[in-house]
Amino acid sequence: RFFARFPDRPLIIAHRGYRACYPENTLCAFAHSLGRCDMIELDVQLSRDGEVVVFHDDELGRTSNGATLAHELGLPALRLGDWSLAQLRRLDVGSWFLDADPFAALAKGLVSRDQLLGLMPQRIPILREVLAWASAHDLPLNVELKDSGQEGRNEQLAAAVVAEIQASGTRDLVLLSSFNHDLLRACRQRAPEIAVAALQEEGHPPDMIPYLRALGVQAYHPEDTLVDAALVAALRAAGLPVNVFTVNDPGRQQQLFALGVNGIFTDFPDSCSR
Ligand code: G3P
Ligand code: MG
Repeated sequence: RFFARFPDRPLIIAHRGYRACYPENTLCAFAHSLGRCDMIELDVQLSRDGEVVVFHDDELGRTSNGATLAHELGLPALRLGDWSLAQLRRLDVGSWFLDADPFAALAKGLVSRDQLLGLMPQRIPILREVLAWASAHDLPLNVELKDSGQEGRNEQLAAAVVAEIQASGTRDLVLLSSFNHDLLRACRQRAPEIAVAALQEEGHPPDMIPYLRALGVQAYHPEDTLVDAALVAALRAAGLPVNVFTVNDPGRQQQLFALGVNGIFTDFPDSCSR
């Protein structure tokens, strides 16, 4: 049902928002994905106090001023799960991008430095506000649940994500995914009406098609190097859509479209032609 809403052409999925040109997993990156993609992918985790926040890494260092703020707040570590929502909301998750090299947006002439500076700083989004935003724009989301490495925390994340989707009435707009397939099972157990997709990056599961059927997924999301013609043919024959991450090379995008993949995740949604 989830994929029935899309036109019959490969989907462009903006990876962490328009990540090549804007700071990933921010409302700014999401806003600039509008009109450039069919769906936005974002990553979610739990704050120490159980709020669902949008952030990719376990550690805050790469994409925020976490190190400076940790010092100010007297926090010993940079693990996201050790910070409360109030503490996380004080982070600037945008300005780091100005120092990113290469500074793609600027180099490509898509934005001026002044425009970019005007977009900073960015606050870490919570899932609730992204769901409300996506609903207002009728834009589908692929919400990737990150594995915390702790079973209890993962259960808590699955429960919280499902609750947010149900409360916001966005179940038809959201595709959940995870590399940890137990997290998918936990979501499906709570809300079988919400679509899920299995992420895979190191080899396919044994007996892949029966495995995916038993898992109850609506799609398979393999890493690019795992994908060839035989795989796409097998999945399509089984009626399982295949969306491939992360594909930024235009030549490879065309190859995958020719193989018949259903979608690609890309950091450059703007420059995809299909
Ligand atoms: O969901 C596709 C892709 O986002 C998975 O890898 O590390 O970018 O979250 P990662
Ligand atoms: Mg992701």
